[in-house]
Amino acid sequence: MTDTYVGAVDQGTTGTRFMVFDHSGQVVANAYEKHEQIYPEPGWVEHDPMEIWENTKSVITSALGQAGISPDQLEAIGVTNQRETTLLWDAESGKPVHNALVWQDRRTTSRVEQLEEDGMVDTIREKTGLEADAYFSATKAEWLLENADPIKMERTRPSDIQDRAAEGEVLFGTIDTWLIYNLTGNHITEVTNASRTMLYNIHDLEWDDELLEEFDVSREMLPEVRPSSDEDTYGTTDPDGFLEAEIPVAGALGDQQAALFGQTCFDAGEAKNTYGTGSFFLMNTGEEAVESEHGLLTTIGFQRSGEPVQYALEGAIFITGAAIEWLEDMTLIDDPAETAELARSVDSTDGVYFVPAFTGLGAPHWDQRARGTIVGMTRGTRKEHVVRATLESIAYQTRDVAEAMEADSGIEMQDLKVDGGAVKNNYLCQLQSDIIGSEISRPVVDETTALGSAYAAGLAVGYWGDVEGLRDNWQVDREFTPEMDPEKADRMYSRWSDAVERSLGWATD
Ligand code: G3P
Repeated sequence: MTDTYVGAVDQGTTGTRFMVFDHSGQVVANAYEKHEQIYPEPGWVEHDPMEIWENTKSVITSALGQAGISPDQLEAIGVTNQRETTLLWDAESGKPVHNALVWQDRRTTSRVEQLEEDGMVDTIREKTGLEADAYFSATKAEWLLENADPIKMERTRPSDIQDRAAEGEVLFGTIDTWLIYNLTGNHITEVTNASRTMLYNIHDLEWDDELLEEFDVSREMLPEVRPSSDEDTYGTTDPDGFLEAEIPVAGALGDQQAALFGQTCFDAGEAKNTYGTGSFFLMNTGEEAVESEHGLLTTIGFQRSGEPVQYALEGAIFITGAAIEWLEDMTLIDDPAETAELARSVDSTDGVYFVPAFTGLGAPHWDQRARGTIVGMTRGTRKEHVVRATLESIAYQTRDVAEAMEADSGIEMQDLKVDGGAVKNNYLCQLQSDIIGSEISRPVVDETTALGSAYAAGLAVGYWGDVEGLRDNWQVDREFTPEMDPEKADRMYSRWSDAVERSLGWATD
């Protein structure tokens, strides 16, 4: 009998990956391509949706080709994606009306401040579980409806984007929706992605009329919202399309929720932290949408067909891995792999603290106008100190949200599952364990984002039977135990908190 597999598209902020998994959750194929980051103005970040779709087709084809797997051997495909990133496209031509506005994009900051002045913040928090912030999709969709560049559209005239959206002729989507649309032809999103739009009521599980009105988004342009693992499937790939096969697309999750699922955090109290461009610390809170009193987001964790929604608390940290990329851009390092050795080559940062608030600060501070700040430099400061301060900033930001998580949930952190590109760095993992004072577990398969969406799709089509069986697939690669004197960790953390204060409110425009 021919072996069969489940594939997962992982469309992230910096690139697109396709992975293929077998029954034991092991990776059998993997291909990755980066895409362009477009910065039209300071604080603006865009992606070209067509480039993302072309890269998606290309990584699927090359992963299957390299592993000698035929498309027919895929029982299902799952999708996972950078969340909040927003685009509009013409329903007839299928072409975007503008580049996608990326989750990091800050162009709608003043609109969010207007929401604060209008007293909308509490309403938004109550309905969506989110802090009013330019991070989420709502103000991006509103901006696109007002400003989309008609020259890029094949047939839409400048004045009628909003009118055509009201007729469902211009469609809204986050990146999951864009990929599902291109893979299956259907305009569908799923609950975890919907929960990041700031347009979706996470308690009623519906697009919210009051918020749609506030942001001038018509219901006709919105996708249907489905479970993250959907036995009805979102549709199938086109047998006449690039894969020449009819494969069900049956699961989707925002990338951070996918990592929660891939780390098998299926029960309340289980938590993970993913270190990518940013870091996203999620704790499953079960069927209860726990309201945060300490600057965390309440969000949807996942939903399986016919089952209730599972909620999560989230600490969204905007810049962690991206701070290491910045070191590379500044030519302080040639390769992220060097950072551990450079940091180890000095005993401390020599009093240097780096708050990488390049796009404002997310949880738990929520300051859109915070900006990157380095404090404590002297004439003796060397690049090694700055590199070490950068790694420390990742660990401190995680402690910021871990403390908020403990305060909100009342659960003391014992063991934290970690994943994402940066956890290959043993120095960082040890530092993280020291700074938060708890154990860290790194799994063998650290691409848990792709794995989580493969699990969602595979469960929907019966490739995997139940979630309990998936727990057996989770294997520890290495555990890290705190070695630093806790008082020293507290002293360092306290100086970090002072440095954060200095970064707040810096941007004026
Ligand atoms: O909320 C943004 C997040 O989903 C982006 O994740 O891994 O693409 O940086 P990543």
